[in-house]
Amino acid sequence: MNLGERIEAIFPAEREIPKRHLLTNPIEQHEFLVNGELRQWSGPMEDVLSPVRIKTASGLEPRLIGRFPLLTEQESLEALESAVAAYAHGRGRWPTMSVSERIKHVEAFAFVMKEKRQEVVNLLMWEVGKSLQDSEKEFDRTVDYITETIDALKELDRISSRFVIEKGIIGQIRRAPLGVVLCMGPFNYPLNETLTTLIPALIMGNSVIVKPPKHGVLLYGPLLQAFRDAFPKGVVNVICGEGRTIIPPLMSSGRIDVLAFIGTSKVADFLKKQHPKPHRLRCVLGLEAKNPAIILRDADLDLAIEECILGTLSFNGQRCTALKIVFVERCIADEFVGRLAGDIGKLKCGMPWEQDVFVTPLPEPGKPDYLAELVEDARRHGADIVNEGGATTCESFFYPALLHPVSEKMRVYSEEQFGPIIPVVSFDDVEEPIHYVVQSNYGQQLSIFGSDPDVIAHLVDPLVNQVCRLNLNSQCQRGPDTFPFTGRKDSAEGTLSVSDALRVFSIRTLVAAKAIDINKAIITKIVRERKSNFLATDFIL
Ligand code: G3H
Repeated sequence: MNLGERIEAIFPAEREIPKRHLLTNPIEQHEFLVNGELRQWSGPMEDVLSPVRIKTASGLEPRLIGRFPLLTEQESLEALESAVAAYAHGRGRWPTMSVSERIKHVEAFAFVMKEKRQEVVNLLMWEVGKSLQDSEKEFDRTVDYITETIDALKELDRISSRFVIEKGIIGQIRRAPLGVVLCMGPFNYPLNETLTTLIPALIMGNSVIVKPPKHGVLLYGPLLQAFRDAFPKGVVNVICGEGRTIIPPLMSSGRIDVLAFIGTSKVADFLKKQHPKPHRLRCVLGLEAKNPAIILRDADLDLAIEECILGTLSFNGQRCTALKIVFVERCIADEFVGRLAGDIGKLKCGMPWEQDVFVTPLPEPGKPDYLAELVEDARRHGADIVNEGGATTCESFFYPALLHPVSEKMRVYSEEQFGPIIPVVSFDDVEEPIHYVVQSNYGQQLSIFGSDPDVIAHLVDPLVNQVCRLNLNSQCQRGPDTFPFTGRKDSAEGTLSVSDALRVFSIRTLVAAKAIDINKAIITKIVRERKSNFLATDFIL
């Protein structure tokens, strides 16, 4: 079979799907979580169609894998009331609880979450088309993130568990919660990128409303009960439906204190503007990126190609950190592009559960058409599809397209494709990619491939002021999760890492007293008799 025929035959018949991954009946997800109750929804539902098509006698058919509630403004505002009541202006049980007790609740959640691994991983594959291996990685990374968050909070608490005496003032400085947090993650990491804001927000004492991304709602079904049982009522609320129906009422209420959102700057700007008192709203945003790779003439090409494949095509290029444009020095461009095209041809295409699969179907309806438009536009302006079969489409499946030579006239030069297209630009002078980065609306990360320390040092100093992570001879990525993850310009607001996230969802607050006898006596009695959770010297082990 040639490549075209293989792509034509990429989708399975039902009997070809391994039994353990088969979803036989659609999941009717009628429940949502508000005020500690799993409420039943009997109103309109949204169909969830998998990116995986099924081969039938009458052709390829979309697979309905479930339905979720299309909640209205009313349920959304009930979730808000519940989160506001749980926080109770910082007087609720959760925000005033001791850190060690809050940790116990999060541990209880993580314990039950781990039992749901198989169910959640299977839904990740069916809902967003992520490979089994990457779906398992997403789940395990999230569980590790929770453990690391607990350790980081213990460390933070240990540092704050002592008094400082400065210029005759005794002080105890801690971090306190901010209020009600609205968490909205993206479809490409529907579990990980939601929980990496949700868990730190919770553990710092905030109450939370979660709206899962449109692709990636069903996988929250198995976790709803764990959220209900692990936390006091109203502390976690999970709502779903059309974002444009259920989110603006929350923002315009003025009662959301933190917006944690991963998506586009357009939506982020719209949501921020809904808030009547923007100075009261803290935002933690992960937005667009167009991370470039710069391949210098002395680069180790084996390494550069291997990293560029991972960087551009892992999860079909649907990562905010993906390499979305490649600049290569003209003298090695033909060799680089030729070898990259050859290696793309070796990637396994198929269904998410297949062993070693790399390229899988795309979840967003209309995405292959959009990608085809970008390719067509690039061709019209003089680029070739270099790899055999590049841009071949079969329903939701789009075979990676390597485009060269790409120029600034083409949309793919500046638009974030968020899919399996690799635009390659040849350059003579390294000022060209530097100019690109300086002019770009985005400023997340970049990768430099080369071997001369002098040349690299000369690039590092100006480029670290353009982006927030510069990767040497390696693809762009978020991990390890203890590293800061952020961006400049339209790419991000706020910094996320295990420890930074604890800071971003809290504020420093302190108790201070002149070091006079009466104050010393009061503080000593409060601490000795453990009368306060804040004013305390308990050391969490
Ligand atoms: O989509 C953006 C993700 O945060 C990227 O994470 O670099 O680990 O794939 P990753």
